Amino acid sequence: MDTLAQPLISKTQAYEKQARFQNDVLSGLQQYPKRLSSVYFYDERGSQIFEQICDLEEYYLTRKETEILKRSARTIIGGMPDNTHLIELGSGSSTKTRILLEAALGQFELTRYSPIDISAEMLAKSAKALTKRFPRLQVEALAGRYEAGLAHFLKQDDTPNCIMWLGSSIGNLTRQEATSFLSEIHQNIDPRDSLLLGIDLRKDADILEPAYDDAAGVTAAFNLNLLVRINTELSGQFQLDQFHHQAVYNDKEGRIEMYLVSDRDQEVCIRDLDTSITFKKNEKILTEYSYKYSRSELETLTELSGFQLTKQWLDDQGWFSLNFLKPKDSVV
Ligand code: TRP
Repeated sequence: MDTLAQPLISKTQAYEKQARFQNDVLSGLQQYPKRLSSVYFYDERGSQIFEQICDLEEYYLTRKETEILKRSARTIIGGMPDNTHLIELGSGSSTKTRILLEAALGQFELTRYSPIDISAEMLAKSAKALTKRFPRLQVEALAGRYEAGLAHFLKQDDTPNCIMWLGSSIGNLTRQEATSFLSEIHQNIDPRDSLLLGIDLRKDADILEPAYDDAAGVTAAFNLNLLVRINTELSGQFQLDQFHHQAVYNDKEGRIEMYLVSDRDQEVCIRDLDTSITFKKNEKILTEYSYKYSRSELETLTELSGFQLTKQWLDDQGWFSLNFLKPKDSVV
């Protein structure tokens, strides 16, 4: 495996990727209610827009998580066995992770960092920048889905691993899916391994909703980018000004629900799928959930998936949490 990202995918893989996109779009838009999977947010343009979201005033998540990391990076790394291999899911530009990497380089003799991300372009760029910035860091980046990436890294070494999943991305799974995902990880790790999870906490709708519907319309552009992709990659004919972005907080479920809403009755042709999709005025396409957790929901998640929450750090306002999990059966 290369030390840098592997953006060069074979023709067969590109074909399969395209076929999967076609199938998912078709089946999603034929369902009722309609939906489009959030895995498709992160093409090159989407990943760039997401970086802008992270800098928004309204999007407090990145700021709060950074505050926690700056304050506690040394303690967090100090709680791991020497030379722990740091594996990161959804690393993006790795901006926040740099804080942890610096702490690791200061404490470990050897620091291995393996980011896994769906966006090959972003990964290649950030792996290169990291290697330049931290010459002693051993970076092995892998572009692709998390399961495959984890399987690759977990089977190959005998050093302890810490799987880091920041930015509250676990919130984009349902509570059930999150439990299954962590259980699956639990089955594939050693007692010495650990998880570091950034998870957004339940709070008032008037703080949550603007975080997913900013005044400048960056999040709207991010959401609408799904339709842009269908237009460019599948010869779709979505008129972008006939749909709008919507984010609502469902307090009972504890989740932000993100939609693309049709502004009128319309029929949209998607040529490569040989189909037309009918929309009623105000009909919605669900594009993403972002679940928020209470302390007890967090404990349920860890318990049910075979972990114990051994340490938790919060920002000053108590809006965001960073959680350190060990397998329940491990000797601490
Ligand atoms: N993991 C991020 C979150 O739930 C993803 C995200 C942030 C997002 N803003 C978004 C996804 C807007 C879709 C649209 O906070």
